[in-house]
Amino acid sequence: MGDVGTVSVGDLNDSVPQEQVDLGPVGKDVYMLTGTGVESNRLNQQHQLLKKTVGYLLHPEVQEHITTSSSIADIGTGTGIVVLDLEKSLPSSTQLHGNVSLRVYDAKQPPCKELRNKYDVIHLRYLNSGMGEEDWEVVTQNIFTMLKPGGYIQWLESDFGGARGLRANPFTTAHVHEEIHRIMRPQLKHWSFAPRELEDILLNQGFQDVRQEVLSTDRIPELRRAWSLIEIGAMEGFFPGLRHGFSEGECREKLNAMKEEAQGDVYVRWNIHVWIGRKPLPN
Ligand SMILES: C[S@@+](CC[C@H](N)C(=O)[O-])C[C@H]1O[C@@H](n2cnc3c(N)ncnc32)[C@H](O)[C@@H]1O
Repeated sequence: MGDVGTVSVGDLNDSVPQEQVDLGPVGKDVYMLTGTGVESNRLNQQHQLLKKTVGYLLHPEVQEHITTSSSIADIGTGTGIVVLDLEKSLPSSTQLHGNVSLRVYDAKQPPCKELRNKYDVIHLRYLNSGMGEEDWEVVTQNIFTMLKPGGYIQWLESDFGGARGLRANPFTTAHVHEEIHRIMRPQLKHWSFAPRELEDILLNQGFQDVRQEVLSTDRIPELRRAWSLIEIGAMEGFFPGLRHGFSEGECREKLNAMKEEAQGDVYVRWNIHVWIGRKPLPN
């Protein structure tokens, strides 16, 4: 893991923003860059919803520090949608494929010499599913090492452990949502670890100007249904693996029943957390 290969798309050009995309470990958790699978579509739809709900891709404070020579990494990039999108919004960004490079890197492993003190900005989003509680500190330390002094980290995670099915209309029933969330809640507690602990982990690592912003997926009422369907889409991947005693067919039926409820006045909400912080400049 982490050393399987490097994909370069064109040559990097020093006069425009350089974007380094790290694909994450190759293994059962790998996402293909140009994959057309259901999961890739879901990640790309989720990206659009996140941009609208959070209101930015890069936090304004981070964006302010980007210059035409900045080097930006997206760790655990999935379909690569973040860098492809950033490329459009950053200054002098007309040479998309000349500025994007990909490499395989396991963020839990210490970065090689070439990656140390290299980036002005490191962006991370939704590494949650691949992280144990002990990994957050390790990854934070590795990111710190990879940033240039004065460089920024931006990390977004959702508090999926706190997801709840809500009723926009009090007379609507949400039996399937209630049943499924009752099953999931005790098994997904670890998905609330980052929302609870990451701010302190960043501070203990030595990041300065650490800020945490918290938003809710139901902030924009018109997007509630879309968020619910994204959640149910993600559950298609992990719900069958939880403890519940359902057969594969029964899992499918339950998730289909959730989708039906989500067509009415039932929706799922959870909090989205964004942390930013800066590696100190030398005194
Ligand atoms: C749920 S996807 C999120 C993709 C993307 N960040 C987004 O928000 O659309 C999780 C990604 O994290 C990557 N990942 C998981 N564990 C990782 C690790 N230890 N190091 C680097 N990437 C990792 C996976 O390969 C996958 O690309």
